[in-house]
Amino acid sequence: MEKINVKICVGTMCYVMGGAELRDVIESLPQNILEHLNVSYSPCLGCGKGEQAPPFIEVNGKRIAGVSKNSLIQIVKEEVRNVI
Ligand code: FES
Repeated sequence: MEKINVKICVGTMCYVMGGAELRDVIESLPQNILEHLNVSYSPCLGCGKGEQAPPFIEVNGKRIAGVSKNSLIQIVKEEVRNVI
């Protein structure tokens, strides 16, 4: 089964705007969700392009702005639901 690529920005701007929490959240997800994810981290996902607010993540190559702890969980659960 193909895994969902989740990339979390840990660059300075995103990190101070909540990216640090996103890293903790993703790492504490239950194993039955984590097994469907390919999690990686990026030093920057291109925050200089456009007016969107950090923190940024990428899900299967699609950049998403303004991600909170709760929205990250929602996004990931929805993606996992779509593949199982
Ligand atoms: S620092 Fe996060 S996208 Fe640039």
